[in-house]
Order: sequence, then structure tokens, then C-alpha cells
Amino acid sequence: PEMPLKGSNNKAIPLIGYGTAEYPFGASKELMKDSILHAIRLGYRHFDTASLYESEQPLGEAMAKALELGIIKSRDELFITSKLWCCDAHRERVLPALQQSLKNLGLEYIDLYLIHWPVSLKPGEYELPVKKKDLHPMDFKSVWEGMEEVKELGLTKFIGVSNFSCDKLEMLLSTAKTPPAVNQVEMNPLWQQKRLRQFCKEKGIHVTAYSPLGAKGTLWGTNRVMECEVLKEIAFAREKTVAQVCLRWAFEQEVSLLVKSFNKERIKQNLDIFDWKLNPEDLEMINQIPQHKGFPGIEFVSEEGPYKSLEELWDEKI
Ligand code: A2P
Repeated sequence: PEMPLKGSNNKAIPLIGYGTAEYPFGASKELMKDSILHAIRLGYRHFDTASLYESEQPLGEAMAKALELGIIKSRDELFITSKLWCCDAHRERVLPALQQSLKNLGLEYIDLYLIHWPVSLKPGEYELPVKKKDLHPMDFKSVWEGMEEVKELGLTKFIGVSNFSCDKLEMLLSTAKTPPAVNQVEMNPLWQQKRLRQFCKEKGIHVTAYSPLGAKGTLWGTNRVMECEVLKEIAFAREKTVAQVCLRWAFEQEVSLLVKSFNKERIKQNLDIFDWKLNPEDLEMINQIPQHKGFPGIEFVSEEGPYKSLEELWDEKI
């Protein structure tokens, strides 16, 4: 299934996407490439990467292989998202950063280009954790002009943002000529983003959920989602896995989602969410789960930087 995005391009965003972020890096490039190729074979059509993830190149190689093997007939069948890292969030850095991503991917265009975080870093710093002393306020207006430019040049079909609060979206919208098509944010049963989703709906901004399983094992992850008793209970009753309950829940919220796995069995399992549904009682139980943000983003908060507290970063209490 897919959903149209607002804008002049008539390409829709596939609702089930495949995430490639892992940090600290554990998987080899070869494992990434094989996993992605396997995912294309099984029917995933949306792939998410970023200049930070070191997965652009294996993704590019997997796409080329899929074309060569005839698994897909043309590159157009895939929807590719990449992101502008904070060190490139400067007006004049946007174009060269996307050109580098395109080179890594072996593509002439991507489908969606996102500002990764609402903050700038000193040029050249592609590192996590970020160096807090090098964080700077992002000039939303001029960086977004850079995003609009790469869209006009045809290097990306859509432009959007990631990790933006309602207030920051509002700020961006106040100067943008082309509104962001997408806001990609953490979203799972433990961090449901009800207010942000309502806001985005009103503004016609599509929401993509990252860490739908809580991203356990990564720098930004937590095992709280997969260990949640309510989800375990629902999974047991439906004879599904907790992961499938999370993915089905996100799917039923009319967002697109990005799930990461470099394991063949789990890559398949994560697609198996279309021939069953959660019932109203399940949904109500999920609705009642106490909220807990898995990745507060404390690394973007510092005394000298643009955000002095988590509240300033997210414009709400975390
Ligand atoms: P692996 O790559 O070994 O499958 P998220 O999508 O929220 O970022 O979560 C990704 C994490 O969840 C990864 O550590 C991934 O590990 C794991 N994962 C992905 N799919 C499943 C699944 N169906 N069951 C259990 N763990 C999963």
C-alpha cells in the first residue's frame, strides 16, 4: 500500500519502508547489501538512508543488483529517502551534500530529501555522538531555500524534515515557498505522537514513523517497546509477534513506517501485517500505554548550543 504526497509530483510514498540505520555500526556493507536485496525481492519498495548512516552505498549496490537480476524493471519502482546531516545544514552546503549522496547511491535523483535534525553543525562533522561545542542554530529560511533549490533542479522529487516539533514546523512554514511534504519522527506505541500527527494532518504534512519497534540495540534505541507487557499480551492473543503488533498499529494510524532489520526471517515477518487487524479493544489498550520517548536527543542539547533543554528541542516536556 502507498499514499500520495502533497506536491506537484505524482509519486506516492509506500507505507511500509525499510530502514537502514544502525549505530554503532555493526553490520558489514555486504550484510547490508544482501539484506536490502532480500527486502526488494520480498516486495519492500521504500528505502530510507542518510549521509550519516554509511548505508547509501550498499543501498545503491543492492538497487543496481535488483535491476540487473530483473527483480525490478526500473529505478522508478523504488522510493528512496536520504537526509541532509547537520554539518551540511547550511545554505551553500545543501546542493553538494545531495550530490554526494546521489553519487554514493549511484542515482540521478532521490524521491525524498529530509533535513535530518533542526540544528546545524560545523561543516565536515559526520559523527555521532555530535560534538556539542560545534552545534549552531539552524537558519531555517536559508537552509530550506537550499532544499527548494535541489528540488527545483530535479535532484529530489520531494523535500521534507525529520525530528521537527509543531513549533519548528510552524517556523519553517512561515517562510517556505514549498511546504515540507514529510516529517519523519520517532513513533511507536510508547511514543505515539498524537499532537504532532494532528498538527501535520491539518497542514497536509505526511508523517513517517521511525523506530516503530523502539530501535533496540542502537544509540537512539530502547528495548522498552519490545518488552512492553501490554504489547506482549496483544501479540499472544493475536498469535503475532510484538514487532508485528507495533507495525500493524503504525500502519493503522495512516502514517508510513520504516522498520530496520538485517535478518532475513525478520525482514519477511515484518511484511506480514496485511491480512489481519487489531481489534478495537487492542487499540484501546495501546491508547492507554504510558508514554515514554525512546530517543530524547540529549546529544543535541547543550549550554552553548541552540537548545539548552530538551523542552527547547521538542517544544514540549519530555
Ligand atoms: P535485526 O536487524 O537483528 O532484525 P526499529 O525498526 O524500531 O529501528 O528496530 C530495529 C531493531 O529491531 C533492530 O535491532 C532489529 O534487529 C530489530 N528487529 C527488526 N525486526 C524485528 C522483529 N520482527 N522481531 C524482533 N526484532 C526485530
